[in-house]
Amino acid sequence: MPSAENLRSAIRDVADFPKPGIVFKDITPILANGPLFQDSISLLCDTAGGTKIDKVVGIDARGFIFAAAVADRLGAGFVPVRKKGKLPWNTRGLSYTLEYGENVVEIHEDAVKPGEKVLLVDDLLATGGTAAASLQLLGDLEADIVAVSFLIELGFLKGREKLGSHRIESLIHYAD
Ligand code: PRP
Repeated sequence: MPSAENLRSAIRDVADFPKPGIVFKDITPILANGPLFQDSISLLCDTAGGTKIDKVVGIDARGFIFAAAVADRLGAGFVPVRKKGKLPWNTRGLSYTLEYGENVVEIHEDAVKPGEKVLLVDDLLATGGTAAASLQLLGDLEADIVAVSFLIELGFLKGREKLGSHRIESLIHYAD
């Protein structure tokens, strides 16, 4: 039975990365362990709640790892939200503030059709800026957001407050 607690135990805290004072949650031990990686994908798939998903949208770059596997498991399409200048076709873009810096996310303008059911997936909800910008882009494309799903939520940064009324799911929650 997939267990979020087993996933939590595998996450490695790395002090002072990428900057002094930040404790980085390193998920690579989950990725490197076949059964744990499989469990993480199963639990993320469960967040769709049985709704038939048309597109799983993943956020550059660590989000791709999870979102692509979830899309495959659900039999859905995969759509990347990428950092500026990486997508070749016509894009919609939005700038946002990150936990440590400033960034722009972009999506292909035809990546999601109006009314398509979308599961947005990323590895981490921190300040919520990245997910909020991605949700705004998806809203502009008239996507029907089924849920916004994260492996990890840093609850103390209150990112979910930026994500409006969408259903927000996180497998592992850190309160402080
Ligand atoms: C991290 C993480 C999320 C985002 C969360 O990505 O993967 O996408 O930050 O932060 P926020 O909630 O404060 O917006 P990062 O930009 O570090 O890119 P990476 O996945 O390429 O490492």
